[in-house]
Amino acid sequence: MAQYGATLSPDDRPLSAEQLSDALRSADILLCTLGDRLTREVLDVSHRRTRLLANFGVGVDHIDRSAARDLGLLVTNTPGALTEDTADLAMMLILAAARRTSEGESEVRRGAWTGWRPTHMLGQSVHGATLGIIGFGRIGAAVARRAHFGFGMRVRYVARPGAPGRNSSVDYATPEPNLASLLRDSDFVSLHCPSTPDTRHLIDAAALTTMKPTAFLINTARGDVVDASALAAALRVGTIAGAGLDVYEGEPTIHPALLTAPNVTLLPHIGSATIGSRTAMGMMCIDNIDAFVRGEELLNRLV
Ligand code: GLV
Repeated sequence: MAQYGATLSPDDRPLSAEQLSDALRSADILLCTLGDRLTREVLDVSHRRTRLLANFGVGVDHIDRSAARDLGLLVTNTPGALTEDTADLAMMLILAAARRTSEGESEVRRGAWTGWRPTHMLGQSVHGATLGIIGFGRIGAAVARRAHFGFGMRVRYVARPGAPGRNSSVDYATPEPNLASLLRDSDFVSLHCPSTPDTRHLIDAAALTTMKPTAFLINTARGDVVDASALAAALRVGTIAGAGLDVYEGEPTIHPALLTAPNVTLLPHIGSATIGSRTAMGMMCIDNIDAFVRGEELLNRLV
């Protein structure tokens, strides 16, 4: 980055609207990430200099892409760099939910464990269980492979029209005709779709009611795909058995009822948080920036 005279934001925090406006006025390229709210209002700043938003991450729901398009801004992201690590975390949440590991750890830490007992903390077996995947892009497919080949799960999926996995046939997962049947028949439902106006609150009270009372919901995609209040209520009254969450509607604020629910594992949005993935994401941003500076075609252009 030294060769471009980069200005770094050293404290690892999202920029405020004012800081983003300053950056857009002073830099040719903005290497942004998911906490930076790049709304139409922010992007449409007077005397804007920026031409490229090189996003560090795959999801770009924090960028108003139609505004970027209208304003002639290019947008790139980092697909592929974080697929395997995010899929690992989703698989881990499936196992954590099934085997009640958060409850178990909390019991051990508070000194409440009295020793091995035949009926102590019984969970669900994942082997032979049905996993329903919503969103069958790179990460959804990577979770499906783990679940099927590693844990003997039956995997079904729904994908949006145009999604990479939509028309391909694979031997580890079966397409499901519709969301309702996927929700109705799955023991685990794992979300891997982007946040868009169409997927906002895709999992609402009605969807949760369609799920089995013994089923678990896993979200490593985006928080607002799930109606957090509806999920908190469903976990409280037993509409579903439990959940594993890495992302939250309105994060880092978390619905208070989720914080106290025993049947949910809560993680702080760490799906891609490995040294390997974060380094690969950074390098992919740089590759896009290099291509932009050289006037070449961008590698991961979204807009
Ligand atoms: C992380 O959540 C990403 O979208 O890359």
